[in-house]
Amino acid sequence: MNKYRIVTVIGARPQLVKVAVISNYLKNIPKDQQRIEEIIVHTGQHYDHMLSGVFFEQLNIPKPKINLGIGSGLPEVQLGKMIHKIGEVVREEQPDAVLVYGDTNSTLAAAIVSVQQNLPLIHVEAGERIYRRNQVPEEINRVLTDHASSLCLTVTERAGNYLIREGFHKDRIKFVGDPMFDLFCWGKSKVDQFSDIDFNKMGISAGNFHLATIHRAQNTDSKEILLSLLSALDNSPIPVVLPIHPRVKHLLEKYDWQPSNNLKTIEPQGYFDFLKLLLACKYCITDSGGVTREAFFARKPCIVPMENCWWSQAVESGWAIEVNTDTEKLLSLLEDFPTPQKAREDAFGDGNSAEKIIREVVDFLDQYNGESYWHRSGKFEDLPATRKSDLTFDNYSDLIETLEDSKYRFVEPLQLMDNSSRKVAIVHQVLFNPENSLKTARIENSKGIKACYCLDPETKLDNLFSRDISGMIQEIIHMGHSLGLVVATDMSDKVVSDYIALIENWFKCKVSILFYKDNGLIKALETGSNEFIPVEYLEAELFQNLAGYWQPDHPLKSKAFNEDSSMLLSLNPGWFQPRSETFFETLLKVIDKKEEEISQELTRQTKSDLYQRKKIEL
Ligand code: UD1
Ligand code: UDP
Repeated sequence: MNKYRIVTVIGARPQLVKVAVISNYLKNIPKDQQRIEEIIVHTGQHYDHMLSGVFFEQLNIPKPKINLGIGSGLPEVQLGKMIHKIGEVVREEQPDAVLVYGDTNSTLAAAIVSVQQNLPLIHVEAGERIYRRNQVPEEINRVLTDHASSLCLTVTERAGNYLIREGFHKDRIKFVGDPMFDLFCWGKSKVDQFSDIDFNKMGISAGNFHLATIHRAQNTDSKEILLSLLSALDNSPIPVVLPIHPRVKHLLEKYDWQPSNNLKTIEPQGYFDFLKLLLACKYCITDSGGVTREAFFARKPCIVPMENCWWSQAVESGWAIEVNTDTEKLLSLLEDFPTPQKAREDAFGDGNSAEKIIREVVDFLDQYNGESYWHRSGKFEDLPATRKSDLTFDNYSDLIETLEDSKYRFVEPLQLMDNSSRKVAIVHQVLFNPENSLKTARIENSKGIKACYCLDPETKLDNLFSRDISGMIQEIIHMGHSLGLVVATDMSDKVVSDYIALIENWFKCKVSILFYKDNGLIKALETGSNEFIPVEYLEAELFQNLAGYWQPDHPLKSKAFNEDSSMLLSLNPGWFQPRSETFFETLLKVIDKKEEEISQELTRQTKSDLYQRKKIEL
């Protein structure tokens, strides 16, 4: 049974309530069953006693092995210092993994260190998104941390879906539930024991006051927004208690603003005092992610002064209403909050997230072999068809030579109708890689044989009429190869004949066959026949190189080859590569190339638009 050492990096208040849950769970595991040694590193992002020390005391969090004492500062300076110092500690400790919580700068700094030192990163509370970045450093921290993580532990199932949408492999994501819910379930029964808050002294009574917290950049960076929010709270019909975050405290001192009516600002509270206030309040007004969830757990109506918040489950059930900066709406909700529907009980798990987190971490590390699921389709070994295909240009050239040496005659597909033996016809589908079609055409040309190249006029992968691709097809035709069309069986005769006219007109070359992609039917055009000729009537066995492999088998290993009979090779040169490679590698190359082409095209168009605009301006 392996034991693992994990560096857990924390730094701000919301991380202290989360680490409290995990550390206490770990502490209670019997010694002989302990698999995780937790090394707590505190960045010192929060340093005031009421934002940090008090939680260690009240929630019995082990003393950090080190407090880096980074403190406050411009975000990039704060991040830079954190990365530097966390980096030193992690290098010294050589842990098996780094674990982070939530979305603060301390989270991001540790994530960067972890990937720089090639250590697996575990992110608790991964995947939450609001898809809004302006003045929301937390969203940026979340996206970057998730993408650096090897194991994304989510507190809601929805977060997992966001990650899947961003291209994560499902094995990187585990739904564990919210450790804050664990703490809430435990803490609410301890409030009377551990809180000494006195409502009488505060001039409030249970059920007859609102509880507020405000600290987010988007509500505090602008003086106007902050003061209008606080003024609205001050005008509440019943008292509003606001434990004031130091960020806001400093700003109010600077603006010399004080409430004059129903707003009561108090110091930040310890966990139990805050919980007591929450459990006794009428409504909650908060832009805190943690408090929004706790209000939901406590079934307190919650007004969120944000455009949209991460905890959409609370909003959808009606327990939280987002008001952004609309203070009129805020005031009317302070008077009367519409009765919410019944909430989904399990949106944040079942209150046993600590056990699940530790189980997932141990399972992950037991299987960890230095590889992570970086690709959206999983580990490279798990990808479809990771066996290397033997469809190389050299092999194709050898195949032709062997067929020639074995007295095969190369003919047009319709010449496979009569029963004579040892004939082979080649039909190429020019799809997703016309350059490769040109290469196979050259190989055939160098050996003096002809094939039929079928174009798909409906393909969205290539523009057959672009200068480049048209030029390649012209070159193929000039070598003497014939042209066909790939069509679908449900295309009307009118559509097909329009396409034939279009292609013949454009390439100045007769279209000799239609190849029906749905069922391999061939329709002869040269002979004027309107009949479909199913492949089996061609007296030839059909071989294809669909999806990077010969199907049903390699032509030279086939019954047809051994028994002197004829063959129809229906090929997509897109699969041929200079070297043997996997189906997946070939596709990735195609995707990369297409992306590059699209971006070049966009740049070209943008430049030309700008040029046109400039001309108009002039
Ligand atoms: C940080 C997190 C935020 C989280 C919040 C929880 C980032 C980007 N933001 O915001 O996601 O919701 O913590 O509370 O990481 N200050 C003190 N004493 C302290 C700490 C801060 O006075 O102990 C003051 C300083 O003036 C500082 C300001 O608060 O400049 C902001 O602190 P900072 O840690 O940068 O961000 P928070 O607003 O606390
Ligand atoms: N909290 C607290 N005292 C307070 C305000 C908040 O103990 O005066 C707790 C709250 O109960 C929750 C956590 O702090 O558990 C949330 O942290 P915060 O609002 O600072 O950060 P966020 O959740 O917005 O990231």
